[in-house]
Amino acid sequence: MSDDGQVTHKGAISQHVQSLSASGIRRFFDLLSNMEGIISLGVGEPDFVTPTNIRNAAVRSIEEGRTHYTSNYGLIELRQAISHHLERLYGVEYDPATEIIVTTGVSEALNLAMLAIIDRGDEVICSDPCYVAYQPAVLLAGGVFVPVPTSAAHDFRMLAQDVEERITSRTKAILLGYPSNPTGAVMERDDLLAVAELARRHDLFVIADEIYDRLVYGTEHICFSALAGMRDRTLLMGGFSKAYAMTGWRLAYACARVDLTEAMMRVHQYITMSAPTAAQYAALEALRNGEEDVRGMLAEYDRRRRMMVRELNAMGLTCFEPRGAFYCFPSVRVTGLSDEAFAEGLLMEEKVAVVPGSAFGQFGVGHVRICYAMPYEVLEQALERIRGFVDRHRTSAK
Ligand SMILES: Cc1ncc(COP(=O)(O)O)c(C=O)c1O
Repeated sequence: MSDDGQVTHKGAISQHVQSLSASGIRRFFDLLSNMEGIISLGVGEPDFVTPTNIRNAAVRSIEEGRTHYTSNYGLIELRQAISHHLERLYGVEYDPATEIIVTTGVSEALNLAMLAIIDRGDEVICSDPCYVAYQPAVLLAGGVFVPVPTSAAHDFRMLAQDVEERITSRTKAILLGYPSNPTGAVMERDDLLAVAELARRHDLFVIADEIYDRLVYGTEHICFSALAGMRDRTLLMGGFSKAYAMTGWRLAYACARVDLTEAMMRVHQYITMSAPTAAQYAALEALRNGEEDVRGMLAEYDRRRRMMVRELNAMGLTCFEPRGAFYCFPSVRVTGLSDEAFAEGLLMEEKVAVVPGSAFGQFGVGHVRICYAMPYEVLEQALERIRGFVDRHRTSAK
């Protein structure tokens, strides 16, 4: 800043940070921070507290004085457990010594992946709507984010033909975020095989954010790197936040062939050093003894999911059946309101917070994201309020 108050180049915020738009979700949650009696179905995190044995494992590690850095890659026992877990579930093999990095959330893993493979101007193709952090991760690495429209007509799956139309000589990677936040969509095996075929033909990397892999309902999660020929093209990421109710622990992992893991490590060692040690012990316990809890939470999410889909459709907020994660993504068309006006009105009039679909990309317009990771009775109350709001606005829209 110069003496006369003008912002000069030297005093300015960097261009790449300026290019990031403020998160639509954050703006919205600023609104409700000082309101009372809100039912928030806005935040994408489990209502469950981390299971007791997992919490105890972290406490024990602290009491035993394991309070130091770990290897940059993460505790070897944890990497071995992750490797075993992926092999057991999906039959895909990663060497715990060289092909797995324990990270501070998938959030870090995503940024490592981008920084490892993107040069200025490289393009990354991704579904729209998608998780809010994808585009910033691409932009901060100097890349270009190329959105592929998805819609309720195809249950928000990303269609290979739509991807192919957007492939150019600068395309470096396809970013796959399924099961999807915000839509709850999953990609079936044939959808993924078609993407794999494109990746092979055009020599592309695939960044697979599979953080919701365990949260699928009546369908099987297909791990992208387990598809024939895909392991060595894939930067696979998975985490503990969602399935084990561990959002606050900040723990996840990235897996890839050795040179890609080494490239991610070159960034990770300088920006994070190692993921939090107590959280790593907690994650180890989660993998060793967490299966029963995962199944219990999954069954409860499924019960809530079925009620939400039924009730939202019954009140006219049409909603395809989400088969993964813990979100519904209904259309608000019946009210005649935009998604932003719907979310703002619902918050002001009925004190229920949901997120406008446009916060997740231009093709999220006309929808809202409703997170059902809340107790069943709270969801029932929220639905009652939403029904009241829709009924009022449906009338006035006519
Ligand atoms: C699709 C997706 N990827 C990544 C993340 C971030 O996960 P983590 O808590 O592991 O950083 C989220 C969190 O909402 C998400 O929905």
